[in-house]
Amino acid sequence: ATGLSLWCLLAQGVSGYVDGSGLSNYSFPDDFIFGVATAAFQIEGAWNIGNKGESMWDTYLHKHPNFTVDGSNGDVATDSYHKYKTDINCVKSLGLKYYRMSISWPRILPQGTDNVINKDGVRYYRTLFKELLKENITPVVTLFHWDLPTPLMDLGGWSNPKIIDYFEDYAKVAFTLFGDIIKLWSTMNEPHQHCSNGYGGDNFVPAMMSGGVGEYLCAHYMLLAHARAYHLYDKSFRPHQKGKIGITLDAFYAEPKDPTKQSDRDAAERYLQMHLGIFAHPIYSSMGDYPPLVRERINNISLSQGFTRSRLPYFTSSEIDLLRGSSDFFGLNHYTTYLMSDMPMLQGWRVPSWDHDTGVLLEQNPLWPKPGADWLAVYPAGFRKVLNWITRNYGTRIPIIVTENGVSDFGGLNDYARVSYYNNYLYQMLLAMYEDGCNIQGYFAWTLMDDFEWKDGYTVKFGLFHVDFNSTERTRIPKLSAFNYAEIVRRRRINF
Ligand code: NOJ
Repeated sequence: ATGLSLWCLLAQGVSGYVDGSGLSNYSFPDDFIFGVATAAFQIEGAWNIGNKGESMWDTYLHKHPNFTVDGSNGDVATDSYHKYKTDINCVKSLGLKYYRMSISWPRILPQGTDNVINKDGVRYYRTLFKELLKENITPVVTLFHWDLPTPLMDLGGWSNPKIIDYFEDYAKVAFTLFGDIIKLWSTMNEPHQHCSNGYGGDNFVPAMMSGGVGEYLCAHYMLLAHARAYHLYDKSFRPHQKGKIGITLDAFYAEPKDPTKQSDRDAAERYLQMHLGIFAHPIYSSMGDYPPLVRERINNISLSQGFTRSRLPYFTSSEIDLLRGSSDFFGLNHYTTYLMSDMPMLQGWRVPSWDHDTGVLLEQNPLWPKPGADWLAVYPAGFRKVLNWITRNYGTRIPIIVTENGVSDFGGLNDYARVSYYNNYLYQMLLAMYEDGCNIQGYFAWTLMDDFEWKDGYTVKFGLFHVDFNSTERTRIPKLSAFNYAEIVRRRRINF
């Protein structure tokens, strides 16, 4: 069911639908990295099979079945633990040479720490990696895509500085066991989403709701853990394994709601600094520290709220040295754009879309289509702009790899909205490359197949392949967008 012989269907179905016809004169370089991405917890299932330990998502969802909107969990997901060969065939049928995936930390280290290494888990990943190589597909591996081992969450997870050591130990195990095969590593996936939704708020596990403190502890320790893993690799593994290692950051683009207002323009810039700069600046700027604007703002707000010290911790000078330049690439996950208006302090009332620490109100243009999840409005130009923001702030020396980009809908094989999304977003990326001089070397579509979408469970779909969750087979069927993406990858051009 994964063959792509139906291209003609696509040509009929799509031409005349997408906009931008005639604009696509640019093509992707031959060595441009095209891939597709997944994450362990969202696809593997087999939550208690092969001596795997529990992740905090397993534990939390079993305890709070109503946390997800459909009451679902990741116990089976797409069953990729068993169906990895089918997945590989899907990737292959798309004509891709790269597959971004993550390792489940508790599958390798069931207790979180390196005193017990799970042989079954190691065997699973080694087999999977080797099968990928056999098909000429290079695995790109994320060490942490949110599924923290439960014993480490019980210690406070990323709010406990001890986790920096434990992450470094885990990274060492992974480099030692898999580094002969894996040449492209990402330490963390979207630390900003993880910290703000999991530690600041309650949208993600561990749902800590920590009153403005936890998200910054989490950010601080994730940054340091990343830097430690980077240097461990750089010093002890890179010399013989000869790979690359970086981090994956997420960024919504932020536009001023009223571009004629300086205060809205400042609000948009402030948002990007507070949400992307807070992670990117320590790693990619020559400062090796948080952006001055972020430091000043969080310090001031903390003091004005009666805290006697800032909620944002300080780096020591040796930590700054460790952070500065600790990434071989800029991994970017991008999906959507928000409109910002300046809203310094709201007195006595709360607005859900108000970002307290940034002092902005977030909205989206009602004209931007929303084919699925409510947060994901389609605004392709925002992609080009965020790529330019990164390039302006951090230069072109470090290449950008788009590690995720995609759109959700509510299902169906004729996913015109997704076809249009990819065509238009990829076109904006080409403009960023060729007209703006952004150094972009790779692009990964999110995601290979419909999967467990965190709080949204299985209600929204991001896949290029449809998955039948009613069958134990979890059959994968290519959607129109799969044919479209395969054709882009083959022709190195967008199908306008
Ligand atoms: C980014 C996350 O890395 C991924 O896990 C998630 O499914 C997608 N965004 C879509 O929300």
